[in-house]
Amino acid sequence: MSRLIVVSNRVSVPKAMGAAGAQGGLAVALSAALREHRGIWFGWSGKETETFTGHLDMQRNCDVTTATIDLEPQDIDEYYNGYANRTLWPLFHYRIDLTEYDRSFDEGYERVNARFADSVAPLIEPEDLVWVHDYHLLPLGSMLREKGVTNRIGMFLHIPWPPTRLFVSLPNHEQLVASMLHYDLIGFQTEEWLDSFTHYVKKEMGLPVADDGTIEYQGRQILARAFPIGIDYEEFTEGARSAEAREAHDRLKSSVRGRKMLIGVDRLDYSKGLGERFDSFGRFLTDNPDMAKDVVLLQIAPPSRENVASYQQIRHDLERKAGHINGAHADVAWVPIRYVNRGYRRTELAGFYRAADIALVTPLRDGMNLVAKEYVAAQDPEDPGVLILSQFAGAALQLTDAVLVNPHSTEEVSDAIERSLRMPLEERRRRHQALLNSIREEDVVDWREAFVATLQGKRTTEPSHAEP
Ligand code: ADP
Ligand code: G6P
Repeated sequence: MSRLIVVSNRVSVPKAMGAAGAQGGLAVALSAALREHRGIWFGWSGKETETFTGHLDMQRNCDVTTATIDLEPQDIDEYYNGYANRTLWPLFHYRIDLTEYDRSFDEGYERVNARFADSVAPLIEPEDLVWVHDYHLLPLGSMLREKGVTNRIGMFLHIPWPPTRLFVSLPNHEQLVASMLHYDLIGFQTEEWLDSFTHYVKKEMGLPVADDGTIEYQGRQILARAFPIGIDYEEFTEGARSAEAREAHDRLKSSVRGRKMLIGVDRLDYSKGLGERFDSFGRFLTDNPDMAKDVVLLQIAPPSRENVASYQQIRHDLERKAGHINGAHADVAWVPIRYVNRGYRRTELAGFYRAADIALVTPLRDGMNLVAKEYVAAQDPEDPGVLILSQFAGAALQLTDAVLVNPHSTEEVSDAIERSLRMPLEERRRRHQALLNSIREEDVVDWREAFVATLQGKRTTEPSHAEP
């Protein structure tokens, strides 16, 4: 088994982090995928340093070895808050209205990618596989090649790839994609994002793309494929039966006093459709006065990327909206929306999922969405809850037995809530079983193995030690 050098902006091992474990799907998936696999996980520590030194902090946590560097405030501002989260994130989630372009962001992005390349290159041994993750590090492969790294290098994008007509609004779009064509393998969450990428490569760059996803560029062959990410299946099926999960389940159940409960669990991000979700729930309350007082929505939304203005704005908007809906509908002993801005331990989360009759997973656009899968895995198979899932989440392509909705339509989501609350036990069980099968068949270890095997099988450049 080759050693794996995993590189991502965010490095955290949620199981070791207790209550602070709310770092998003990438960290959750990578820490699960890296347990049982020899290797190093390299990235930013999340900390600031006055002057960049490249000093590596090596640690071992829950069977995963991490190596991290600190970044300067200007790096964090231009690369992380700037190009990654004010340019690429909104654009790749189809939010051209929120996308900001600024030359200093481009410079910061290049500079930090170069710093990553400088720091990680010395860790790479001849037989290692290098696996780069997400939109923060798209040009890293080309920078490693410039430093003479000839190992196989793969990249996996955890978020959508936008349609060509949107993507071309990015200044220097062709340069960015050309830099990606130094990887041996580029992975996407779904066929939809893969198709958008290959469409761009064919139409805008005029490159041939074979039916198996092989792209020819400057004498090299790059493979582009979809590898839908999964969850740690047992963490949630077994975790939901643990003592801690049961305690969380019972605590929540007793607090809703026999009412039906809907749950939402999302980073506080505009891509998650939280405002539309609150509006849909408000509409449900108005349209169903007979059911309204017997229902509670628990929305857990830990703050994210708090130095970016669009995130401050969405936080403000949601507080207002929740207040408004609660003001219009609440009674002395009942508040319809419980809005909570903190992280929970994963076993507690499993207990909350199991206590909920419905999960509302309604992003406006999402690369995959792990919460949808976690919710299904945590259910009691004898009396399972119903997953209401946005058709615009990557997960909707696999989880076709969920109640699929258009999250922009408050009527449609409100109707889906009503239908799900009335859904007979037999139908709930049938849907749940089908969803569970698909989640079990493609878990996070299958994802890692499929990607690594494809990368390993693909040798377009000879390893450095084999060179004359
Ligand atoms: P994203 O990666 O965009 O945040 P995902 O749904 O793919 O979206 O992944 C989110 C991950 O973060 C899930 O594993 C979820 O359990 C975790 N998470 C989200 N909110 C919390 C929270 N409040 N406490 C703990 N974990 C959380
Ligand atoms: C998404 C991205 C990840 C990111 C996570 C949390 O899952 O795909 O790359 O790590 O959100 O965001 P943050 O900015 O806190 O790392």
